[in-house]
Amino acid sequence: MLPGRRVLLIIGGGIAAYKSLLLIRLLRGAGAAVTPVLTSAAEHFVTALSVSALANEKVHTALFDLTAEAEMGHIELSRSADLIVVAPATADLMAKMATGRADDLASTLLLATDTPVLLAPAMNVRMWQHPATQRNLATLRADGIRFVGPEDGQMACGEFGPGRLSEPEAIFAAIQSALTLGPLTGKHILVTSGPTHEPIDPVRYIANRSSGAQGTAIAAALRDLGAQVTFITGPALVPAPDGVHVQRVETAAEMLRAVEASLPVDAAIFAAAVADWRVANASTSKMKKDGLGQAPALEFAENPDILATISKGNQRPALVIGFAAETDDILSHARAKRARKGCDWIVANDVSPSTGIMGGAENAVTLITAEAEETWPRMSKEAVARKLALRIAEALAAN
Ligand code: C5P
Repeated sequence: MLPGRRVLLIIGGGIAAYKSLLLIRLLRGAGAAVTPVLTSAAEHFVTALSVSALANEKVHTALFDLTAEAEMGHIELSRSADLIVVAPATADLMAKMATGRADDLASTLLLATDTPVLLAPAMNVRMWQHPATQRNLATLRADGIRFVGPEDGQMACGEFGPGRLSEPEAIFAAIQSALTLGPLTGKHILVTSGPTHEPIDPVRYIANRSSGAQGTAIAAALRDLGAQVTFITGPALVPAPDGVHVQRVETAAEMLRAVEASLPVDAAIFAAAVADWRVANASTSKMKKDGLGQAPALEFAENPDILATISKGNQRPALVIGFAAETDDILSHARAKRARKGCDWIVANDVSPSTGIMGGAENAVTLITAEAEETWPRMSKEAVARKLALRIAEALAAN
């Protein structure tokens, strides 16, 4: 139920626009107020009259009508909502959002706001699969925009595949979860994740077996509790979650710069498997065999320790959490690491190949704090993430 919550619903132009009428009924039935906006293309598919009758509010269509109204400029309209929903979100609206264009009311509202945005895309299969749309999708995801759908299925144009607007009930459920206030609402949390790649030359690099699965699950769990999440990831194998602000980096040095630029935050979780060393004598051109069987000698330099730098820095978050992936003497190494790096908690785990943890779906961790050590049973990385996110919420609430 959503009493007292206001959704700004932007209806884009497409056959699926009729489903937005059903969505308005569901939202109104749940007690939410709906401010409807129609793009000029949408007016070809649904009428302002039916939208306003269902929403029981004036429908906004033109940018200049709105700015003429002294009491309700476009800035205010976009900011008075708890959530902006675009359904259907057309390829054109996504392109405008991804490039920051503001040439009509809908795109201006979307640019003029920092209210969370949920997109329900709907378009022809080929348009959805087009590299331009996929590029825009990646950009919008990285900007922290949430998505519901599109679904696979028969399209109005007769083709089959991804591009169908999600059913109104599914969009409603996504709205409900986006609007639910969680224990971390209002908190900004940073998560590092994935491996780093340290170049040897322009085509070769040193990496490690981290998939990024645990860090990704933590970012999603924090988001689900309402946190605003900045997710700084190396080249991971798993996709970044929706609804978090993603920054992609390659090397440890880039990760440190991105982390420092994201401060201040309320809490920081350093789940990345950062390379301890980079190649000091990395070549700027591709290294070649010398024909004499002589192998190149790589020299290493120590990378900055991001966790230690932030723990000891002057913008230290209230809660700093590190990971200790060990293969032997796990707990004693982890305890020493907590002290040496200056973080509040360490999540220790055994990454010996026999455990299947690194790159696997499960994790078995011990949470080490100043007061206690708790060994959790082996569980999925998502379950570890949810448990840890709840602990973080408790700790920040007690602050
Ligand atoms: O020293 P070690 O790599 O085992 O420490 C692991 C913890 O420190 C993890 O939380 C990892 O994200 C963080 N770390 C870091 N920067 C490094 C090395 C590790 O932030 N250069």
